[in-house]
Amino acid sequence: TKNGYPHFMLKEIFEQPKALRETINRMVHEDNIGFENILSREELEKINKVYIVACGTAYHAGLQGKYALNKISKLEANVEVASEFRYNDPFIDERTLAIFVSQSGETLDTLEAMKEAKSKGAMTIAITNVVGSSISREAHKVIYTMAGPEIAVASTKAYTTQMIILYLLAIYIGKNRNTLSKKDLNHYLNIINEIPNKIEQELKNKEEILTISKLLVDKNNGFYIGRGLDYQTALEGSLKMKEITYIHTEAFPSGELKHGSIALIENGTPVIVLATQKELIDKSISNIKELKARGAFVITIGFDNENLRAVSDKFIPVENIDNIFSGFISIIPLQLLAYYTSIGKNIDVDKPRNLAKSVTVE
Ligand code: M6R
Repeated sequence: TKNGYPHFMLKEIFEQPKALRETINRMVHEDNIGFENILSREELEKINKVYIVACGTAYHAGLQGKYALNKISKLEANVEVASEFRYNDPFIDERTLAIFVSQSGETLDTLEAMKEAKSKGAMTIAITNVVGSSISREAHKVIYTMAGPEIAVASTKAYTTQMIILYLLAIYIGKNRNTLSKKDLNHYLNIINEIPNKIEQELKNKEEILTISKLLVDKNNGFYIGRGLDYQTALEGSLKMKEITYIHTEAFPSGELKHGSIALIENGTPVIVLATQKELIDKSISNIKELKARGAFVITIGFDNENLRAVSDKFIPVENIDNIFSGFISIIPLQLLAYYTSIGKNIDVDKPRNLAKSVTVE
């Protein structure tokens, strides 16, 4: 049931703090992360490379996971779209850890990619929300997201719980391969424990986002931009908007816009700027100025900052958090913005056209 919410999507957006808390409480006990049965010390010593493979939103969670693996565990990580994985001749052997992320656990492209990786000798881990699903059965090891059933076609709570597992895995790997100091370990775990509360705070901005969504319902296209981790979040924000509002949006790395795509900016074109990477704020401000000079309507999502506010048409402040973890926080207004824009357009938000909850064809 929708538990008093008008739609499953809104219910699921609001369930994120609880889903994350449950996932964290199950895995983390003081400074111990319960993945001993998933990856032993010996297995970890053998691994020299990670592939994360998934589709759609789960792929976007994988992009954030790659970032965490690189930054936190200092392990080479690659992310691939499952439907392309097999054609890219991935360099896989017995020393490769291949992680497959899928809410439903039934996505055929992801399942086939897993079979391929297994046949080349990789150790495979599934991260899925559905117990007993095909992908969970095919993998060597399974980690379940504790998101609870996700009914809306647009994935929300599955995404953030997939991300938290990937981050915890990165911290666990860093700890056990001794690439993470005790101090950083505790620092990161403290941040992880705070994420559900911060998302709760974020959800309180819903009225403001509803108001901003009214400025988008009549638009036919728009852009999402960001640098670093913000670009990965921009990709997910753009996918949410496309799938439930049918507005054509695209995400770009902020610095790449001027290499061609800026030609598409006209008077009133909405551009959603993600600016949560503190050391990149000045660069974001110059990008916003370039866009404004060409008539863009700029909505910025970032840590509260006077200068950012001053250059933007609309500003949505987000809770402060260590740069490496900002993707958990900045996605919340993007989910709400897509949701309210869809409602404003009278679209069946839980069941948008042409889509099914799980995609079991190649
Ligand atoms: O069940 P899966 O996580 O394997 O599904 C992958 C994608 O089909 C899915 O995330 C899709 O992109 C969503 N509709 C996005 O909201």
